[in-house]
Amino acid sequence: MRSLLFVPADGGKKLDKAMASGADAVIVDLEDSISAEGKAAARLSAADFLKDVASASPRPRLLVRLNGFATGLTDADLDAVVPARPDIILLPKADGGAAVAEADAKLTAREAIAGLPEGAIKIVALATETAAALFLAGTYAGSSRRLIGLTWGAEDLSADLGAEANRDAEGGFLDPYRLARTLCLAGAAAAQVQAIDTIAADFRNIALLRRETEDARRDGFTGKMAIHPAQVPVINEVFTPTADAVAKARTVIAAFAANPGKGAVGIDGVMYDRPHLARAQQLLARAAASGIG
Ligand code: COA
Ligand code: MG
Repeated sequence: MRSLLFVPADGGKKLDKAMASGADAVIVDLEDSISAEGKAAARLSAADFLKDVASASPRPRLLVRLNGFATGLTDADLDAVVPARPDIILLPKADGGAAVAEADAKLTAREAIAGLPEGAIKIVALATETAAALFLAGTYAGSSRRLIGLTWGAEDLSADLGAEANRDAEGGFLDPYRLARTLCLAGAAAAQVQAIDTIAADFRNIALLRRETEDARRDGFTGKMAIHPAQVPVINEVFTPTADAVAKARTVIAAFAANPGKGAVGIDGVMYDRPHLARAQQLLARAAASGIG
């Protein structure tokens, strides 16, 4: 998933717009974009929407962002949406692998009641929304076979830290959020799941979005969340491997294939060893997932 576009569950025509946005995934939000009074109606809208679009083909992956465990709303969210079979649950304010294991158990019970195969619904966790969660970023490995990605957020974390801002005057993230970003990236790699970058809230600033997305790709993220359809084409473009990058990856793989048993090869006067081979293979897998190569 290169781009994951948020849409409020009560968004009306925005839900259709999100489906047509070109995003690889649509995140139907029950949490921060829905008021307390609107939660019950939003759950019903989310379930109706999921049922309506389930059989569309092709279609983006469908996620639902739940309300976090501390709200007491999570169980009712799951009761409403699991029968409509979202592809993935986005778990906010996840406090480490234990929270993912808890979400897994809640899903297992509801899948059984709904007659769905166990494990049908996957999990992406929002791993950095509280100060405590930062210290648990390394605990996701082995928490659940449902876990397929980690992402991070700066808004709730700044509230928890009591900060005045999370970005500097140029729009770059300040130190505590750079740390959160890095912990998400390392936590995802340690758990062998996708690292997904956070949103850029300033949706008119496409130049900042591009820079941030390129930085994310450089560092190892392979997707980014969006809040506005205008952000989707930029994110998809940045995370789609270029023809040059694909050709280069093929050259590296071919060089190792031509030298079986060798740990390092030389190409055009540069040394390539096993980590380069792994990176080339990952790039080709992403190219295939993007529909190229
Ligand atoms: N998904 C689908 N469509 C969206 C959208 C989204 N996230 N955000 C905007 N659009 C649509 C608008 O409905 C509008 O459609 P129209 O041209 O048919 O009227 C079009 O895109 C242009 O929107 P624009 O006028 O630029 O923005 P807006 O003022 O309508 O909406 C937000 C701004 C921030 C309210 C909106 O982008 C939004 O709801 N984003 C998601 C919020 C969210 O889910 N937050 C939780 C995660 S942090
Ligand atoms: Mg939040």
